Amino acid sequence: MEMKEKIQEKFRTLFGQDGAIFASAGRVNLIGEHTDYNGGYVFPGAIDKGIMAEVMVNGTEKVQAYSMHHDEYCEFGLNEEDKPSQNWARYLFGVCREMIKRGGKVHGFSTVFAGDVPLGAGLSSSAALESTFAFALNNLFNNGIDKFELAKIGQATEHNYCGVKCGIMDQFASLFGKAGSLIRLNCKTLEYKYFPFNPQGYKLVLIDSCVKHELASSAYNKRRASCENAAAAIRKYHPDVEFLSDAKRQWLDEVRDEIPEEDFLRAEYVIGEVQRVLDVCDALERGDYETVGEMMYQTHFGMSKLYEVSCEELDFLNKLARKMDVTGSRVMGGGFGGCTINLVKDELYEPFIAAAKEQFAARFGHEPKVYDVVISDGARKIQ
Ligand code: GLA
Repeated sequence: MEMKEKIQEKFRTLFGQDGAIFASAGRVNLIGEHTDYNGGYVFPGAIDKGIMAEVMVNGTEKVQAYSMHHDEYCEFGLNEEDKPSQNWARYLFGVCREMIKRGGKVHGFSTVFAGDVPLGAGLSSSAALESTFAFALNNLFNNGIDKFELAKIGQATEHNYCGVKCGIMDQFASLFGKAGSLIRLNCKTLEYKYFPFNPQGYKLVLIDSCVKHELASSAYNKRRASCENAAAAIRKYHPDVEFLSDAKRQWLDEVRDEIPEEDFLRAEYVIGEVQRVLDVCDALERGDYETVGEMMYQTHFGMSKLYEVSCEELDFLNKLARKMDVTGSRVMGGGFGGCTINLVKDELYEPFIAAAKEQFAARFGHEPKVYDVVISDGARKIQ
């Protein structure tokens, strides 16, 4: 049975009626990592894996929710003190609360949801969940909130109810995604541009290390604090620097002695990464995939050695890609586990995947998972 049919069957069993069906997507990011909360560029796209939910307004002030993945049912009210104890339900609760805080109407609803985004793989399953419900509630309660504001509702849910001080990239990609296109977003001005992405002769493939680091959210928040600290030091001399991405490389050098070395290295990575996104977009417009790939390797180096969000398993996969002449490879998303994203020539695809599985398993005792990237539509009403 398809995911949609399973959801519908469960919904009827639990609630005896049919609701409307909504979906949203996980995301990949070709380049531009940890730049979003620094006001820089990102270059993501939605993927063909996501979250789907059936939702029905139920005429009460209670949410009745069932997660197929957790095989768990939960009920909660819509006031601040009604925060549910289940982790998964906090995402739904947060979206309701953030919508209400922005003046949106939210009343009780019943829902069953499921997903096929691998959890903890750095593909933004949580943004897909937030975006699905932000989009659905906006539609069902006729709030007329625009998509950027919906993305901010998802982001604020992470900040205020899930403890991650994330940027806007994941929710943006999940809501604005379009089949066949990557989207370059300027996270400061929120200007964005779609780039059709269909590299002839290459494939984009994810290799999932299946590693999940427990302390990822506190380490993420720490990286963000380092960047803000570096930006504040630079701002003393260059008052126009609102975000780290506004700073020139030499301005960072000027404050090197005033900030911890760790913050300097984090900032060095970010300033380089913002430029790499622009370079990759230029290269793409020329059809120059070799440059795109080279930038991906540079990003990996920066994420591993300067930003320190890689891990042994991801460095291993990256090194193997380099050894096999794969065009581009790097750790994707927040890091601390998850996937590498790889730009691979068609003829290298099979030998690379085979070698990655075999050598990774020999070294770490389990095979990595492999996902082909299909760039797809973001949030939508299905039925
Ligand atoms: C996570 C966050 C995003 C972004 C990436 C790193 O996915 O949710 O906002 O910061 O990490 O680029």
